[in-house]
Amino acid sequence: MGKVILDISISVDGFVAGPDDQQQQPLGKGGDALHDWLFSGDYPSRHNDMFKLSRINKDIFDREIPNVGAMIVGRRTFDLVNGWGGSHPIQGVPIFVVTHEEPETYLEHHTSFTFVTDGVESAIQQAKATANGKNVGIGTASIAQQCIKAGFLDEMHLHIAPIILGSGIRLFDQIGEDQIQLESKRVVDGSNVVHLIYRLLD
Ligand SMILES: NC(=O)c1ccc[n+]([C@@H]2O[C@H](COP(=O)([O-])OP(=O)(O)OC[C@H]3O[C@@H](n4cnc5c(N)ncnc54)[C@H](OP(=O)(O)O)[C@@H]3O)[C@@H](O)[C@H]2O)c1
Repeated sequence: MGKVILDISISVDGFVAGPDDQQQQPLGKGGDALHDWLFSGDYPSRHNDMFKLSRINKDIFDREIPNVGAMIVGRRTFDLVNGWGGSHPIQGVPIFVVTHEEPETYLEHHTSFTFVTDGVESAIQQAKATANGKNVGIGTASIAQQCIKAGFLDEMHLHIAPIILGSGIRLFDQIGEDQIQLESKRVVDGSNVVHLIYRLLD
């Protein structure tokens, strides 16, 4: 049975993007530093050689991808990156975009997109059916937080970049006041990043 996993890069102070995110700078001011670990090594990912990683980061990155059968993102991210031009860097994995309204036009080359207008629970159900036993990856803050609140999330894979952004889009500012117990499954001291893998406890 596949898991629902948040996989995201964050700053030490908990931001997934810096301020003023826009199409010219989708990760906001200074936010590219969150993804430095994906592009600053000598080893190309075997899934897409645009990613150049250190050996230890490549092990982490490449190991997860074959287990992902579908991804869910929010509409802001889809729009900020212009729908990845129709081809998400992780090719062949269908993407469910949660939105209030389907876009009139969009490109679809190596990635198939499904626009889900009836909420996160529906997105999870559809993504799980498509993933067919593999994991469902959650890729954005608003969707992650709704999943946490609703109890849909099984694991968090947080890649902590060595930067304090100070402002921007926070990962954990909309999860209410209930405490959430975590089990630490793995800590990996990557180069230019620390990988933290947590299981959410019931
Ligand atoms: N650090 C990383 O690894 C990483 C990865 C991905 C993205 N990011 C960054 O994260 C930021 C975007 O994240 P975000 O959390 O602000 O936004 P998001 O999750 O990408 O999108 C939020 C939007 O999704 C739609 N949506 C969300 N929940 C919905 C629901 N229940 N029903 C209907 N529509 C719903 C709404 O759009 P509509 O009302 O327009 O439909 C909402 O404004 C960007 O700066 C992006 O670059 C960072």
